Amino acid sequence: MSPPKTPFHPFSVLLLAASLLSIPSTFAQTLNPSCAPGGNFDLSNFSLQLPIGQPGSPTTISPDKLAGCTGFQDKDHFFTNPDDGSLQMNVPGDTSTGCVTTKNSKHCRTELREQNPSSWNPNAPTNRLSANLTVVSAGGSTCIGQIHIDDAISHKPVAELFYDDKGHITVGMEQTREGGNEKTFDIGDVPLNQTFSYEIRYEGNVFSVVLNGGKPVEVTTFQLNAPKSYFKVGNYLQGKTPSTVRFFGIEVTHG
Ligand SMILES: *[C@@H]1O[C@H](CO)[C@@H](O)[C@H](O)[C@H]1NC(C)=O
Ligand SMILES: *[C@@H]1O[C@H](CO)[C@@H](O)[C@H](O)[C@H]1NC(C)=O
Ligand SMILES: *[C@@H]1O[C@H](CO)[C@@H](O)[C@H](O)[C@H]1NC(C)=O
Repeated sequence: MSPPKTPFHPFSVLLLAASLLSIPSTFAQTLNPSCAPGGNFDLSNFSLQLPIGQPGSPTTISPDKLAGCTGFQDKDHFFTNPDDGSLQMNVPGDTSTGCVTTKNSKHCRTELREQNPSSWNPNAPTNRLSANLTVVSAGGSTCIGQIHIDDAISHKPVAELFYDDKGHITVGMEQTREGGNEKTFDIGDVPLNQTFSYEIRYEGNVFSVVLNGGKPVEVTTFQLNAPKSYFKVGNYLQGKTPSTVRFFGIEVTHG
């Protein structure tokens, strides 16, 4: 005997409930809220820079210390969000809060730095950093992903992906290796507290950004001429007030 047809069959109610969940199912991944970030994310190719330590020399956590369910976390800056298992990175504000910066920067960060490889050639066919994330607060503006120069003459960025209080996403591209002459390009908009994805590519000497799986937006690299580079991903606060970013996935590909 088949059950009577009703306008609200239990299964359709379930489907409706699923579609109303605040986290889009397309970003749902198996994240264990009781593990440190290293148990949910393969962090074996990253080190972590924190906004604490000695001025000019922030505390850095090595890849081996980040690894695994009992790997490094702290309650203030870098930890597993107990509700959704995401990797939460917080920055308390600008240096007036007492946070510390590297000697080459005025800004505090909780940020992962690629270590393996420690740098790569932008002329190679594949160099990609992708992430699924939610910005809970941008603190004015924060850099959520970047490419940095790693050579004898420069420790400047190639490009920085910024997310501001209004959910506006831009790329700041340096024009020369000497730096300090960044130009800004629009990438798109994603409201605060909404999960999205980005991918930064610097391959075949072409720089581009993909937002939410859309068409790659190419940005000129001016006179940079493919310097040896590495990726960074996290919460590198440019503004003054506290910023919080939650990551659901981080992936680097080289080829
Ligand atoms: C770590 O780096 C090695 C060597 O570059 C690579 O083979 C491996 O896939 C990387 N792991 C992750 C999780 O990206
Ligand atoms: C984002 O979510 C946090 C709580 O997780 C809330 O405090 C904040 O007001 C939200 N911001 C916006 C713009 O909705
Ligand atoms: C982001 O989420 C999508 C959809 O679940 C998934 O296919 C992709 O692999 C994720 N990306 C990362 C970097 O985790």
